[in-house]
Parts: sequence; C-alpha cells; structure tokens
Amino acid sequence: MTRAKPVMQLDWQAKYAQRMERVKPSAIMELIKLAAQPGVISFASGLPDPSLFPATVLREMTAELLAEQGDTVLQYGTTEGLLPLRELIAERLSAQGFQAGPENILITHGSQQGIELAARLLLNPGDVVLLENPSYLAAIQAFDSCQAGYLAVPLDAEGMEVDRLPSLLSSCTPKLIYTLPNFQNPTGITLTQERRQRLLHYALERGIPILEDNAYGDLRYEGEALPSLAALEGGNEAVISTGTFSKTIAPGIRVAWVYAPARVIEKLALVKQVSDLHTNTFAQHLVYRYCASGRLDPQIARLRQAYRAKRDQMLQALATHMPDGVTWTRPEGGMFLMLSLPEEMDAETVLRVALEKKVAFVPGQPFFPQGGGRNTLRLNFVSPRLDEIAEGVKRLAAAIQEAGQAL
Ligand SMILES: Cc1ncc(COP(=O)(O)O)c(C=O)c1O
Repeated sequence: MTRAKPVMQLDWQAKYAQRMERVKPSAIMELIKLAAQPGVISFASGLPDPSLFPATVLREMTAELLAEQGDTVLQYGTTEGLLPLRELIAERLSAQGFQAGPENILITHGSQQGIELAARLLLNPGDVVLLENPSYLAAIQAFDSCQAGYLAVPLDAEGMEVDRLPSLLSSCTPKLIYTLPNFQNPTGITLTQERRQRLLHYALERGIPILEDNAYGDLRYEGEALPSLAALEGGNEAVISTGTFSKTIAPGIRVAWVYAPARVIEKLALVKQVSDLHTNTFAQHLVYRYCASGRLDPQIARLRQAYRAKRDQMLQALATHMPDGVTWTRPEGGMFLMLSLPEEMDAETVLRVALEKKVAFVPGQPFFPQGGGRNTLRLNFVSPRLDEIAEGVKRLAAAIQEAGQAL
C-alpha cells in the first residue's frame, strides 16, 4: 500500500508576477456584497435594468440562428470579428462623423477587453496615464495590471479641466490619455464640445494617443449628442475609441468593439489573439442579426425613455430629501450620478449606516486613482425599480444625517 504524500503548501504568494501586486480585491466592494440582501434598495450596482433586456427577440433569433446556420455560428471565427458586424458598426460610426470602415473595427468581449488590450499594447511598467479624477474603476485596474502611473486631472461640471493640461504636460509626458467623454462613470459628467477639441489639440500637439471610453454614448436623455473625440478633425489618427452593446442590448452577451486607425487595429488583434483567439462567434451572429433587423434604434429609444424617467425621479428625490451641504451631479445620460458629502464626512461610514437602513451605494474613493474622494458616493439610478428610487433616496438621506450627527 502506498502512503499518501504529505501535502506541500506551495507559497503561491511568492509566485505571482510583479504586475499582480496592485491587482487586489477592494474592501469596499466586499462590503457592497451586503447590498444583495433582501429588502435592500441598491444604487450600488453597475448593472443596467434587466427588465429591458430584449430576451424574447433574442430567444427567437437564437433558435433561428441554430436552425439556419448551425455550422457557422458555432465555429471558430477570425480574431478581428464577424465582417458583417464590423461593417455594420463602421456604418453606424460613420453616421456619427467617424472615418470608419471595417478595417478600423475590432470586435471584443466587452469594451472592458478593448480597454485592457489597448493598455497592454501601449503601456510599459512606469508609463503614465493621464485620466479624469475620478475615473472608471475597472480601467484603472487594467492600467494597474500594466504597472502604470497616473496623472489624474480634476473634473468640474464640464468634464476634465483641460486648462490644467499645458502646465501638467510641461513636467510630464503621459504615454496615454484615457477619457470618458459621455456621462462618465462614476460622475455622469459630460465633456463639453469645446473641451473635447482642446483635449484632442493638446494630445495631437504632443503626440499622445487618446483612449476614449464611450460605453454610455447611446444613452443620452437630453441635449444634443456631442461628437466623439475620434470624429473630430485629426481624431481618426490619434484616438482609440471603445463602444459596446452591453448597455443597449445586454451585457451578458459580451459583444463590443474598438475603433482605431487600421494599423493599430492590426496590432490590437495580435494582442487579442494571444488572449482569446476571437470573440464568441455565436454572440456576434446574434448581435448582428438583432441590429440588421432594425431593432437596435427602437431599443435605444425605449431605454432612453425608461432611464430618463428614473434619472428624473432620482434628481427630484435628492432635491427633496438631501440635507444641506450635500451636492450632486446632474447627468444628461448614462447610468450614474455622484454625490458629494461635506468634506469631513466619510462615505464608507455612511455606507455602514445605510446598509442598516437597507439602502446601498458605492463609495467613490476607489475611483480616485491618486487617492481622495472619501466624501463621495456613486449612485446607479437605472438598476433599481422606478418605484424604489424615492424611498431609497429617503433612506440614504437619513443615513447621511445620522452619520453626520455622530461626527
Ligand atoms: C465606463 C465603462 N467602460 C467600460 C465598461 C465595460 O463594459 P463592457 O465590457 O460590458 O462593454 C463599463 C461597464 O460598466 C463602464 O462603465
């Protein structure tokens, strides 16, 4: 009889690559898992409203695709993605002023993958990314995993404060500028037309590529659509722009795209090939069929109407219930707004009280790549039900008041 060998405890911690040092779970995100408890009204998630997913149509199309094209939709595909889908996206972008053909489009598994591929293509350890303060957490994590440094530029109601760039850029040349011009996550703020032009101007003048994350561009509830940085003069040369079907069709499908100069798309495709060969063929066919049948624009119109009502409900409830000293952004679209508490308050403390009162949100602090933001909160106004929003805001206001009194 052979005796079982003693189990050796391998020191995995010592084995992880250096680039993993800054990739860590966040304590705040662990706390937010409590938001899943019954009865909690959650403004914490990053999720769209699932009642608006076009599930019935997708079920029918799934059956049709398997019946009619089972041999191709289940097969391996090209790294760049399904050509008719790339053509369709290029056409939609051209209508928004982009110079786009299929050679400018790479299909990705979510725009998160596009961000990560761009980061891996461009960033060496120690390279600096210039970005908004605060910025999208999962992009910061992608840059962290490339061991990047940050130059975080404050935001005001008009977006990144680009007036600061000449002085910032005189002491440091970032390798990349990352920006969320439309309804930024986490603040909901939109970069004005004039600032878009100036940001691109500074980038072109200094030869710095821009990574534009346009995850929410289709979800505008008021005002005129503003051009993508990639669609401005010179933008087609310097801008990598990511877009996604996650917010308009459904995020679980994981189909999105990167727009970039054709030679950059070729390189990004090489990086993607190493990572996952290609995006899910079936999901690409499903998205293509959905869009080619003319359903995307009516779906976007439906989302805009429903989300606008939720945004309005939240803004109204905030105005009614929030105590003095609390301020918030007023997004023209997207899914989030940001609340700022008086400086001396800490959103994490408020979260503990809020969870007792059965309401949840995400403290803003993890979205600030260079620290700060302890007094800020991100609220998702699209994922709760319309009839929960006022009650959730009321509970949140009570939690803020209680945490403030305890100071
Ligand atoms: C600003 C922003 N960019 C990118 C993404 C990634 O979305 P997806 O990978 O589903 O396209 C998200 C998701 O929440 C986001 O908020």
